[in-house]
Amino acid sequence: MNVNGLPTRTIAPLPDLSGATIIDQTRLPFRYESLTLRTLADAAEAISVMQVRGAPLIGATAAYGVALAMNEGVDLDPACATLAATRPTAVNLAWALARMRAVLAPLAADERRAAAWAEAAAICDEDVALCQAIGGHGAALIRAVAEQKPGPVNVLTHCNAGWLATVDWGTALAPIYAAFDAGVPLHVWVDETRPRNQGASLTAWELKQHGVPHTVIVDNAGGHLMQHGRVDLCIVGTDRTAANGDVANKIGTYLKALAAFDNGVPFYVALPGPTIDWSLDSGRAIPIEERRAEEVTCIAGETESGAVVTVRVTPAGSPAANPAFDVTPARLVSGLITERGVCPASHEGLLSLYPERR
Ligand code: MRU
Repeated sequence: MNVNGLPTRTIAPLPDLSGATIIDQTRLPFRYESLTLRTLADAAEAISVMQVRGAPLIGATAAYGVALAMNEGVDLDPACATLAATRPTAVNLAWALARMRAVLAPLAADERRAAAWAEAAAICDEDVALCQAIGGHGAALIRAVAEQKPGPVNVLTHCNAGWLATVDWGTALAPIYAAFDAGVPLHVWVDETRPRNQGASLTAWELKQHGVPHTVIVDNAGGHLMQHGRVDLCIVGTDRTAANGDVANKIGTYLKALAAFDNGVPFYVALPGPTIDWSLDSGRAIPIEERRAEEVTCIAGETESGAVVTVRVTPAGSPAANPAFDVTPARLVSGLITERGVCPASHEGLLSLYPERR
């Protein structure tokens, strides 16, 4: 992705391997600021408070968190345990930690530091390649719609499954960028995605950086737009896909899938292989993160004078609940867009693309 015209990744090691630089996503869209993670605690905190977020980027940050722990001389097991405890739903976190552990555990202590930085960089490079491949496969779906109708293809997306959620390109947004760059006329409906507004603050910001036409809508508008033929297809990301094709994604995804199903609008989910949890037979077992009530009762915004402030939007003392993800059953998903191609959301569908899992 180009930010202010410069090619940028969401996480990158310092040349001397003393830290990893991230974009502080809690400051967007009002401020574009980088910060450097220098310790295991910094990495764990960045994931917990969502300075970095999105399943693939959580995994990449955890990998660098292990590398930072090796710089500090922290043992591998407690380092992995600290990182594993940050956020429960995105399986990319456990996947990245298992991969780091598999590489580092057999090595002598003095060999682990260099190996950890190399493996974290490899995870990031692979994520970029996976997302680019997802972009190619998904763009073909968008192009197919474009060939059947006049005017732009209207794509609805929920939360942020774009460049900011990965190392580069994104999952759900990668097909949009690929199609847009290839000249396919399109327009994106961006769900605001309360409570943290990843759509309004992050997806809108990165689409704008890339010049992609888009419109932010409140979360409740999608069904209405679908009823009136104003959505051609939906593409969302996922934090964990069960082996039967059930997908966990940001809270509210399920309602969009129901509306899409009722209106005959194709509903695609884009994901890289590391987001598949082959150990789960169904989405019912996916752990759903419960976050702080303050994310519901309060909202951040920029005043006319440019100050960024947080205000309460509920009566003082009203309790709030904040489940951060929901599970969309496979039967509501038109297809899974992976780096290996598009498949039905089913166990057989996934096995057709990942036959080594049979
Ligand atoms: O709570 P978040 O912002 O980490 O949730 C992100 C999402 O739900 C994304 O859709 C998902 O991680 C897929 S990211 C490519």
